[in-house]
Amino acid sequence: MLFSRIKPLEAILATAEKKALRRSLGPFQLTMLGIGAVIGTGIFVLTAEAAQKAGPGMMLSFVIAGFVCAVAALCYAELAAMVPVAGSAYTYTYAVMGEVLAWMVGWALILEYAVGASAVAVGWSGYFVGLLDDQFHVHIPLWLTEGPSQGGVVNVPAAVIALIVTALLIVGTTESARVNALLVTVKVAALTAFIALTLPVMHLSNFTPFTPNGWGTVGVVGAASSIFFAYVGFDAVSTAAEETKNPQRNVPIGLIGSLLICTVFYLLVSAGAIGSIGAQPVHGLNGQTLLPGSPELAARCAQIVAGGAVQPLVCSHEALAHVLRVIGDVNVGNLLGLAAFVALPSVVLMMMFGQTRIFFVMARDGLLPPKLASVHSRFKTPHVVTMMTGLVVMFMSAFLPVGKLADYSNSGTLFAFAMVALSVLVLRIRDPKRKRPFRAPMLWLVAPLAFFGCVGLYLKLPLVAILVLPVWGMIGLIVYFSYSRSHSHVGRGIVEVEPLEPSPIPGLKE
Ligand code: ALA
Repeated sequence: MLFSRIKPLEAILATAEKKALRRSLGPFQLTMLGIGAVIGTGIFVLTAEAAQKAGPGMMLSFVIAGFVCAVAALCYAELAAMVPVAGSAYTYTYAVMGEVLAWMVGWALILEYAVGASAVAVGWSGYFVGLLDDQFHVHIPLWLTEGPSQGGVVNVPAAVIALIVTALLIVGTTESARVNALLVTVKVAALTAFIALTLPVMHLSNFTPFTPNGWGTVGVVGAASSIFFAYVGFDAVSTAAEETKNPQRNVPIGLIGSLLICTVFYLLVSAGAIGSIGAQPVHGLNGQTLLPGSPELAARCAQIVAGGAVQPLVCSHEALAHVLRVIGDVNVGNLLGLAAFVALPSVVLMMMFGQTRIFFVMARDGLLPPKLASVHSRFKTPHVVTMMTGLVVMFMSAFLPVGKLADYSNSGTLFAFAMVALSVLVLRIRDPKRKRPFRAPMLWLVAPLAFFGCVGLYLKLPLVAILVLPVWGMIGLIVYFSYSRSHSHVGRGIVEVEPLEPSPIPGLKE
């Protein structure tokens, strides 16, 4: 009974057909879209946090996280090509596993997108503050640039960038394909320069010990769970399936292509960072392990710097720019900082946009109050959900450190990806004859790998991040049973097919 409310695939596809967006995207644009959404705070900032857990072994962490994303991406691709409509994981689950699980996935996606956007905003703030300091010698006091756990009070730059992005989304500025291509070029150029400058000055001795903290939660696999954030965003490609020429061929190329390119960059960048200045974890005075984002680590880092030593990689809030400055390439370091400053806001925009779109689709299905789906009369954007999302992102980014936010975001994302892997398998069994424009190869292997890979990474997150999902889920269930279940359109027998899309996906508009 509880799992019987399934939104018929036919109704979802009818919605898609009515919408009938022009199919204009090829494999190149899709790959660019994926890279644009993926490269961000993960590599520019969280490299330091991964090193604090795994040391040089973080290279393996990147491989593990990348592999789980790749198998999940294949599952995504099969559903995205078959159900090419907005709402991604939420919509797929609604069609296959029913309303309750779909609600839970939609609810978990709030963690992925809204909390993820906060993490990127905080990451951006680190680069902004560093750039002001190094380039213009303007020093903003710590209490205005860090949350309480890092010895500050409120992270003003992070909250301000969230506010600016919210305003842009409300007036309807979605990034154009051309701007996206430009920003991808900026990010790729910055990472390429980093690799070119650091690899030649590598010392092999910096790679030993390779796994100083072992393989556990505070080791290689734990770092993989956190650095998973660096790959999040590739699902943007699947949401563009409707606008893709020959999605059978191009969506998987876009998904796997962007993941592959990012993985190669991530491996080379981490090798360069480790090899050039070293990436060993910082320990407490008694040799104890210190967790990234903890007040203890922040205090120990302050102590090391006050003692006149060079700031270790794991202590930096602008890891990559820091590495370049330490090896003497100060100007390129500053330029890389500038690249992050310019490009990271577009990742915040992508993620906040994703959030408003999920809210919008859920409200359209009756699971959230219809007021949330209202569209601004002049700007034609869903201003109510955008403002709500903006407030949440501002609040979170003002007070929490980047690594914690990324971990919370990961717990929601991993759940959503696991559900997609399950859905694709269930649908193959239940409806084997349905036309599948793209069939994931060796699904019987790929889907279980994706499912158990996501569960495994989830279980290696820090305890608080693990708990965030069930606690958030309980709140979700209370909302569902007190409001959504009785208002659901599917539950009330309303199957609407009106094409309600407020605006195009950022990075796609001509
Ligand atoms: N993958 C994106 C980033 O690292 C979310 O910023």
